Amino acid sequence: MCGIVGYIGPRPVTPILLDGLKKLEYRGYDSSGIALIENNRIEVYKRQGKLEVLREELNGREFYATAGIGHTRWATHGKPSDINAHPHTDCQGRFAVIHNGIIENYLPLKEWLISMGHGFRSETDTEVLPHLIEEFYEGDLVQTVLRVTRKIEGSYAMVVLALDEPGRLVAARQDSPLVVGLGDGENFLASDIPALLCHTRNTYILEDGEIAEITPDGVTVIDQYGRPVAKNVFHVKWEAAQAEKGGFDHFMLKEIYEQPRALKDTLSGRIDPDGARVVLSEIKMTPEQIRNIKKIFISACGTAYHAGLVGKYIIEKMARVPVEIDIASEFRYRDPLVDKDSLVIVVSQSGETADTLAALRESKRRGARVLAVTNVVDSSIAREADYILYTWAGPEIAVASTKAYTTQLMCMYLIGLYLADIRGTLPEADRREIIKELRKLSDKVKVILNNCSIIDQFVRDYAGSENAFFIGRGLDHTVAMEGALKLKEISYIHAEAYAAGELKHGTLALIIKGVPVIALATQQDLFEKMVSNIKEVKAREATVIALAMDGVREIEKVADHVLHIPRTHPLLAPVLTVVPLQLLAYRMAVARSCDVDQPRNLAKSVTVE
Ligand code: M6R
Repeated sequence: MCGIVGYIGPRPVTPILLDGLKKLEYRGYDSSGIALIENNRIEVYKRQGKLEVLREELNGREFYATAGIGHTRWATHGKPSDINAHPHTDCQGRFAVIHNGIIENYLPLKEWLISMGHGFRSETDTEVLPHLIEEFYEGDLVQTVLRVTRKIEGSYAMVVLALDEPGRLVAARQDSPLVVGLGDGENFLASDIPALLCHTRNTYILEDGEIAEITPDGVTVIDQYGRPVAKNVFHVKWEAAQAEKGGFDHFMLKEIYEQPRALKDTLSGRIDPDGARVVLSEIKMTPEQIRNIKKIFISACGTAYHAGLVGKYIIEKMARVPVEIDIASEFRYRDPLVDKDSLVIVVSQSGETADTLAALRESKRRGARVLAVTNVVDSSIAREADYILYTWAGPEIAVASTKAYTTQLMCMYLIGLYLADIRGTLPEADRREIIKELRKLSDKVKVILNNCSIIDQFVRDYAGSENAFFIGRGLDHTVAMEGALKLKEISYIHAEAYAAGELKHGTLALIIKGVPVIALATQQDLFEKMVSNIKEVKAREATVIALAMDGVREIEKVADHVLHIPRTHPLLAPVLTVVPLQLLAYRMAVARSCDVDQPRNLAKSVTVE
């Protein structure tokens, strides 16, 4: 997730670009850059680090340009560096491009472009764009961009500045947001509305496949077939702070709603075209080394630990290798039996959690290979691990982790399938089936996000509760733990998760009239057992909200409320079941007037022990 801005009009462009980027820094902040046409050539200034570093570099320079583009980056392909920062240019410096998204087929395109004589400077996927434009350009930038969009696969919001056509900017969008700001004798582009608000509230929201040509006097839009599109003006009514959150009241809610995109991005480029296998070029182990893994250890904290619990379940089931999982703060002190035949997987959104980093170092000291699943490119954990599998969730700002968790789950499935393929432990038909279902998860999360009204009723009735219990069996139990953590973390309701079969070994004593119990029952083979457990708590007059897959009607006879999730492969259910639990925690916290994004006593990243 990156921030992009563009301007064309009568005013000096540099301050407009820098101010716009400042407003978009929450979308990414590891490097930034601008491109403008000065002295009859495209000049690019880009620097690793926060926007202030770029601002200092530009300080004191005189610029006259009145058209330009700017970018603030959250690294995906290629670590944060001056060279990998955007804008990127072609061989001759005639085109500058900024891009948000992932070009999935950049590697074959890059190879082809190199064979055509193009030279690449960065490690980014984006750099194929200016070279493709250079290759295809025949005097019309709009037509060239249209042709480029037919060659590329993946997600993009891109803006192009061309030396030969200084009077226009050309932008294209597919699966990444892009907004045109309509001014008077000037026009703007941005990946998000906050960058536009101090200039205009009249916008065109570009749709997938659309290409926009922006001049000072007008904006024309065509679709993917080159046909003109008549756009309606969208008048923005949000205040600036709300706009930064994409119109949502809190970052947490925005991030919950970003999950369909984040899941898609995390899967992107990691399945072979035939849909038969997972391709993880990031794990640079030979098949022999993978087959020789004797044991896998997973280590993480908080929500990332909960993702690891799902990972244990999945990897053992698919790859038939024993997996141990530890909370990182325990692992480092318990003298684990890790050795050179072990693979250690550390999971961390921030890549900076002190205990997880210590677990990584301890594992390496004992001779194990370490695979990191993390969201922050070039974080400490990413730098020190042997192999890195990035979750492409984009920056997560709310303290409560949401999209990081579901994308970590996605990585667990990818690792499980990848190891299973090499170790020959999962029949191809099963692999194909799971991969097919993995691809549908993003859309199924969207369905859940649009159908959660039952939660509001539950929140109305139980916002005053001081305790809540989450129960489940198997994978459902691991998600129950995440649901309980979310609820206690932001609503301050005491919430506990139990393996449902454990209730009668003690916890049942706490189940009294009116206590809310959230029961997860998505696992077919454990369903009857869960129904018994629900009856057990109902007999003590608890109020039960149950989560089950679509079409499972039997549960309605025992639970007070049932929230159905779209059907999926049982192993993939956690990605779906957690979404209503995130929304439940969020709405409870709002109903109890809690500080959702910055809960008391907590920090986003725990970099001390
Ligand atoms: O950055 P990490 O994933 O390593 O962070 C781990 C935990 O601190 C984190 O998941 C924490 O539990 C969240 N606040 C939970 O929402």
